[in-house]
Amino acid sequence: MKRIPEPFRIKMVENIRMTTRTEREAALEAAGYNPFLLPSDMVYIDLLTDSGTGSMSNQQWAGMMMGDEAYAGSRNYYHLVDKVKELIGYEYTIPTHQGRGAEQILFPVLIEKKKSKGGAEKPVFISNFHFDTTMAHVELNHAKAINVVTEKAFDTGGYYDWKGNFDLDLLRQTIKEHGENNVVAIIVTVTCNSTGGQPVSLANMKAVYEIAKQYDIPVVIDSARFCENAWFIKQREKGYEDKSIKEIVREMYQYGDMLTMSAKKDPMVNIGGLCSVRSDEDLFNEVKVYCIPYEGFVTYGGLAGRDMEALAIGLEEGMDENFLSYRINQVTYLGEQLRKAGVPIQYPVGGHAVFVDAKLFLPHIPSDQFPAQALNNALYVEAGIRSVEIGSLLLGRDQDTGKQKESPMELMRLAIPRRVYTNDHMDYVVEAFIELKQRAADIRGLTFTYEPPVLRHFMAKLKPVSES
Ligand code: F0G
Repeated sequence: MKRIPEPFRIKMVENIRMTTRTEREAALEAAGYNPFLLPSDMVYIDLLTDSGTGSMSNQQWAGMMMGDEAYAGSRNYYHLVDKVKELIGYEYTIPTHQGRGAEQILFPVLIEKKKSKGGAEKPVFISNFHFDTTMAHVELNHAKAINVVTEKAFDTGGYYDWKGNFDLDLLRQTIKEHGENNVVAIIVTVTCNSTGGQPVSLANMKAVYEIAKQYDIPVVIDSARFCENAWFIKQREKGYEDKSIKEIVREMYQYGDMLTMSAKKDPMVNIGGLCSVRSDEDLFNEVKVYCIPYEGFVTYGGLAGRDMEALAIGLEEGMDENFLSYRINQVTYLGEQLRKAGVPIQYPVGGHAVFVDAKLFLPHIPSDQFPAQALNNALYVEAGIRSVEIGSLLLGRDQDTGKQKESPMELMRLAIPRRVYTNDHMDYVVEAFIELKQRAADIRGLTFTYEPPVLRHFMAKLKPVSES
C-alpha cells in the first residue's frame, strides 16, 4: 500500500530509553505481569493508548500561553463554547477533566429525567458498545449497560465497512424487552473503540436516531474519535465522497441530542473532555448542578484556562483532512504489514489502533488464562512495546455468579498516539511480531495473584500459569 508521509515536521524531540531483555523481564515480573503497572521509562514504544498521548501542535502550544486562569468566565471557555457551536452545532457546553468526567455529570441527570416522567424503574442504557468507564458510570448509577453492536464485528477476519454499527433489529428488540420507559439513553460510540476503532455509518446513526425518537429516548454521542469516524464516512459511504469532514461532522451530530467527549483523542490534548447539549437548556442547567461539586465551576469544569484553549484549537486541527489521511494511513499500514506477516487482526483496520486477535494467535491459551494479556507481555519482553488487553481480563466476572465471563473476542490493542511515532517505529513493531510468531507456542497463559474487585484489569497482579 502507498504510504502517506507526515503532514508536519518535527521541531522538538523526546528521547526514549532503550532497555535490555533482562531489564524488561525483571520490570514485568515486578509489575505483576500487568503492563499498566510498568513505569513508562521501561517502555520503548508505548501503544497502551492513544488517549492523552498525542503531540500538540505549535498552534496549540501558543494557545497554552493565552490561558485566562480566571475562576469564572475565562475567555478560553467562551472560545471553546463557540468552537463547539461552530464545528458541531451544539449550543451548550461544559468542559470536563476528561471523558469520564462528562459521563459522571450527565448520566445521573438523564436517569432523574426519566424518573420524573414515571420511568427508569429498571434503568438501562443501550450502546453499540459501552467503553469500560462508560459502563462503569452506568453501573455506578445502578443501571444496566447493554451492547447491541453488529454480529459482523465479532468475525475479525471478515471484511465489513461498518463494524461499529448498531444491529438495528437487536436495538428495537432490546428496547421492547426492557420497555421504552426503562431505556434512559442510547449511546452512539464513534468510532466503536471496543470492536477495534470501527466506524459507524451515517445511515446507521440516522436510523438509530429515528428509532430513539419514536420511543422518546435521548441519544448521546460518545465522541472520543468523531473525526476519525467522519473520515471513514467520507471514504466508504455512498454520497459523502465529495463532502468535507466538517460537513460530515455537522451531519453526524444532527443524529444526537448531546455528547460526551474524551478530548484526549481526536482533539489531541493531553487532558480534557466535553459535555455538550444540542438545545435542551433545562437539561443543561441540571448538568451544571452536578458539574460544580464534581468537576468544578461550569466555566472551567476541571481544566485550566490554557487547557481549554489548546482544546478549542485541537478540535479544529483534529478535523484536518490531510492530517486524518496520514493518521489513518499510518494505522492501516501497521495493520496491513502485520496481516502480511500472518498475524490475525480485526479487519479492516480501524481508526486509532490495530487489534490483534489473540484467540487465533495463541489458540493454546484458554480465555480464563487471558491470551491477549499473555501476548502483551510477550511483546513487551521481546521489544519493549506496550499494548493493552481488550478481552476476558477486562470483561471480568458475572456480577451474580462470580464466574469469569468469556469475552466474544480476545483482543490485544496496539493504539497509536497521534503525531508521535514514525513509520519506522511501525516497522519495528512488525519485526517484533515476526519474531514472536515463531515462538507463539511457548507463550504461557496467566493466573491471578491479586484480583481487585472492580475495574480489575488496571491494578491486577498475575503470574504465568505453570509457575507455582
Ligand atoms: N469513551 C470512549 C469511546 C473511550 O475510548 C474513552 C477512553 C472514554 C469514553 C473515556 O474517556 O479516558 O477521557 O475519561 N478511552 C481510553 C482508551 C482511555 O485507552 O481507549 P477518558
